[in-house]
Amino acid sequence: MSAARAVRTCAHAPYSRFRVGAAVIDESGKIHAGCNVENASYGLTICAERSAIAVAVAAGAQRILGVVVITDANPFGTPCGACRQVLAEFADDDALVVLAGPRGATTVAHTVGELLPHAFRL
Ligand code: THU
Repeated sequence: MSAARAVRTCAHAPYSRFRVGAAVIDESGKIHAGCNVENASYGLTICAERSAIAVAVAAGAQRILGVVVITDANPFGTPCGACRQVLAEFADDDALVVLAGPRGATTVAHTVGELLPHAFRL
């Protein structure tokens, strides 16, 4: 939660002004954080969740056990469809996706399988 909150301050979101911080925990207990990185060519934007997953993979992670996503959306921001599919590549259906606001006082948790039933996996 604190890693996601901290990295959210680094978000590059000059177009939407919607800052997102994400942190994943890998199979060895290491935490990897990422934020959204927008671009003037809007479609090139990278979401916080995929950013965190890329950081984790680059650090040697092979599995993701859980994710925290922090936004200031009300009630909570949930991962977009693309991020759900990318997450499903590294996380089991029962992995937790915890959604929180910037202060993190209230959270809600879903599983990967709830967010993306019947995920495509090879
Ligand atoms: N965004 C994320 O970082 N994660 C999501 O799952 C949904 C959307 C970002 C992308 C863009 O920078 C901003 O939020 C507004 O869509």
